[in-house]
Amino acid sequence: MKVAIIMGSDSDLPIMQEAIAILKEFKIALEVDIVSAHRTPEKLVDFSTSAHKKGFSVIIAGAGGAAHLPGMVASMSPLPVIGVPVKSRNSIDGWDSVLSILQMPGGVPVATVALDGAKNAGILAAQIIGASHPEVLDRIIAYKESLKAKVMAASDSVKNR
Ligand code: RP5
Repeated sequence: MKVAIIMGSDSDLPIMQEAIAILKEFKIALEVDIVSAHRTPEKLVDFSTSAHKKGFSVIIAGAGGAAHLPGMVASMSPLPVIGVPVKSRNSIDGWDSVLSILQMPGGVPVATVALDGAKNAGILAAQIIGASHPEVLDRIIAYKESLKAKVMAASDSVKNR
């Protein structure tokens, strides 16, 4: 049970850090690397064709602009791929990143989260693992309870103004 978090450039790291942080909170093992679809295509092929043999269960891939990384990984890996569109410096307005990752052809899914939505990618990866690991599922249940408690506290506080 291990998650691979890859991104096209180290400039994606400030966003992808949110996936790292939440997975650490859920106590899920992870490995982080830079794999560029355009600048290191050989590394992309090597990573995508071997990740399932290295103990990974889920891949989170973040990229911006002409964001081909998640889709190309999904084309070669049997593992579930979660794509994070990043609003990078070469992105026009973020839609290019979103649509490059979202609009996959039939047969090759990428579970695409919101623009810069790395935190949700981490949570989704944990939920995929939690489906077959009860201790992780318990942590997700507790996390959801904490979300509810925060809203209920805010609700009480707003009423008392
Ligand atoms: C994409 O191009 C990367 O994923 C990054 O989001 C964007 C810009 O990369 P840098 O020019 O900052 O390395 O491939």
